[in-house]
Amino acid sequence: MKKNLFVFIFLIAPFLLIAQQKSNETPTYKNKKASIQDRIDDLIKRMTIEEKAGQLNQLNGGTFTGPAANDTGQKAKMQMVRDGKVGSFLNVIGATETRAVQKIAIQESRLGIPILFAFDIIHGYKTIFPIPLAEACSWDIPQIEKNSSVAAKEAAAAGLHWTFAPMCDISNDPRWGRVMEGAGEDPFYGSVVAAARVKGLQGNLNDDAHILSTVKHYAAYGAVEAGREYNEVDISRVALWNKYLPPYKAAVDAGAATVMNSFNVFEGVPASGNKYLVTDVLLNKWKFKGFVVSDWSSFSEMINHGYAANGKDAAYKAISAGSMMDMESKVVIENLPQLVKEGKINVQQVDDAVKRILFYKFKLGLFDEPYKFSDEKREAATELSKENKAEARKAAAGSIVLLKNDNQVLPINSSAKKIALIGHYAKSKEDMFDFWIGYWTGKPAVDDAVTIYDGLKNKYGNAVEYSEGYNADATTSDALINTAVQSASTADVVLVNIGISGKMAGEDRALAYPEIPEAQIQLLKALQKTGKPIVALVSSGRPLVLTKIQPLVSSIVQCWILGTETGNAVADVLSGDYNPSAKTVMSFPYAIGQIPVYYNHFNTSRPLPTDKDGNWFSRYRDIPNAPLYPFGFGLSYTTYSYSNMQISNPIMERTDKLTVTVTVTNTGKIDGEEIAQLYIRDITASIIRPVKELKGFRKIKLKAGESKEISFVLSGKDLSFYDGTGQMHLEPGAFKVFVGGDSEHVLGKDFVVQ
Ligand code: BGC
Repeated sequence: MKKNLFVFIFLIAPFLLIAQQKSNETPTYKNKKASIQDRIDDLIKRMTIEEKAGQLNQLNGGTFTGPAANDTGQKAKMQMVRDGKVGSFLNVIGATETRAVQKIAIQESRLGIPILFAFDIIHGYKTIFPIPLAEACSWDIPQIEKNSSVAAKEAAAAGLHWTFAPMCDISNDPRWGRVMEGAGEDPFYGSVVAAARVKGLQGNLNDDAHILSTVKHYAAYGAVEAGREYNEVDISRVALWNKYLPPYKAAVDAGAATVMNSFNVFEGVPASGNKYLVTDVLLNKWKFKGFVVSDWSSFSEMINHGYAANGKDAAYKAISAGSMMDMESKVVIENLPQLVKEGKINVQQVDDAVKRILFYKFKLGLFDEPYKFSDEKREAATELSKENKAEARKAAAGSIVLLKNDNQVLPINSSAKKIALIGHYAKSKEDMFDFWIGYWTGKPAVDDAVTIYDGLKNKYGNAVEYSEGYNADATTSDALINTAVQSASTADVVLVNIGISGKMAGEDRALAYPEIPEAQIQLLKALQKTGKPIVALVSSGRPLVLTKIQPLVSSIVQCWILGTETGNAVADVLSGDYNPSAKTVMSFPYAIGQIPVYYNHFNTSRPLPTDKDGNWFSRYRDIPNAPLYPFGFGLSYTTYSYSNMQISNPIMERTDKLTVTVTVTNTGKIDGEEIAQLYIRDITASIIRPVKELKGFRKIKLKAGESKEISFVLSGKDLSFYDGTGQMHLEPGAFKVFVGGDSEHVLGKDFVVQ
């Protein structure tokens, strides 16, 4: 007995003590001083396969506090949080709400892994900026980055860690409602904008003012057939590499934390289950280190595509292809543990995906300060602050494209005594926005909008007389038209806000008729008879066919959808306080039947000579080939000329650089900003090349009468193209380089690469 006591006291007890101490020690993953890598390695060892599947599960959240706390569905979701079965929520917003949910994850789940809160912040969180398509028309990259950083700052204070932006889909089809979310039709420009948006949103991810971004929709969602939402895509690998992939790649290179699968197929395989897109290109070739998230239910929707037999098969195909987090389809949480147990999915692959997600939770500091983003005080001080609104106003003015301005009707003469403002949208707060301002959360910042009416009143006071002109549903009546005509007949200038409702921009807003509604044309025709100068203010989330209204009005101002500060920005432009400088990044079609129409098309075997009509050419018999307004086009209240174009070496070696210089002159009487654009053409190559490709641009300030010499430097990379395997080639031969104020009006020079 004594011997036993001896053994216990001297030999066993010390070990028990050490073991006890060890279990009281902070686990490495909770140790702030340990490296992120060590913390992740420690945590992953402690996780069950169910908990790992939980990290790959993102659910639609909603509200959890107040009466919603008793909702059966919400209770079930909270139980999943306690069980470690939710890695992320989307659509839980606000400091209070996110804090409440985070608390459950931290305090009541076994390992206390924080939740990532995500939300679609497409062009601002509460201070709404111009839609991305409009913002891109500014060609003002620092401002674009700034806009994203303001959005991130507001969102970060409201408990959000992650947004599903930027959309990097190249599209030339205005029937597609989502063209509003991108940067237009050009891959080079789209790449520059995508990178700026990522930088603005993410910064260095080392503070509480930036959030994770998402490169979406990977890949080639902008090529949906006939512009119909959720439709299929059928493109070649050459088109994929040269036209569609560059912006996603640029965003990944800029450090984007996440990439979202698209809804479409590529080569017959849905993007979520597409090993070529996800594993071969994104993970292996581009060495993407962040994580992949599905689009809403895009894993389970592979069943509808006819690519997966059931939920289990969908989870298997998505995860095997390299996709990672499952947004809302729940096939991963329901099937992954079983798939691993059956040996169908390797646990190392699961670990790799989970580690990537954990990395960002550590990087954002959520293990150490889980509530650092949920800060009510900061939220109240940041949202819709004066400074944020000032940025939104600047951004909105910089996004407005002046398409026509006969007889210099604009800017509005300061002696104008009466301004007739006509149009239902001009007074409708909701139409200052699109679908993407979080209507589904019940908290959109609609009331804070400055309508066009408000903005003009702010600028011109009682000189503004308003009449509706047409109804909310874009129909009109004799009475509405008569009142508008009466108002117009005694006005100095007539402003007519036409277009389509902001509610018709965004997801699931495909239109077969992207054009000005007939009732508005009727209204314009009646107004034209007054003989007054008419300015069309076009509101739309896409380029509309404006051909019919062009002869009816003196000026066309493409106002897009400009968000919170719409009215003030429109008034800044109309008054000349801001001299418009934006240029369209999508071609405006001449007719619907011309869609898709884009500047970077191929030459065809029978190009229509621009200077003559003729038979047996690639042409329409009823309309011109050219769009109404080409890519890169936009007027100013002043005019610019381009002269003295020079190139440094008309015969260049492949390793050389080519410097292109040109003089740009402000030939008018007002200071302004010009967007000079440089295009190239590879005349003959092993794969046909576009008639023009943008490869550079400069936004320059020029005082009235001032000239500046600007230069662009082209390297071999700018003259290269991809083959269908993703290999870049620079082929010797003849090239052209062009510089000008839009894609049609350019000076050109020939050169040879040898
Ligand atoms: C859209 C995505 C969006 C997601 C989450 C999907 O329907 O395609 O762009 O991020 O919903 O709201």
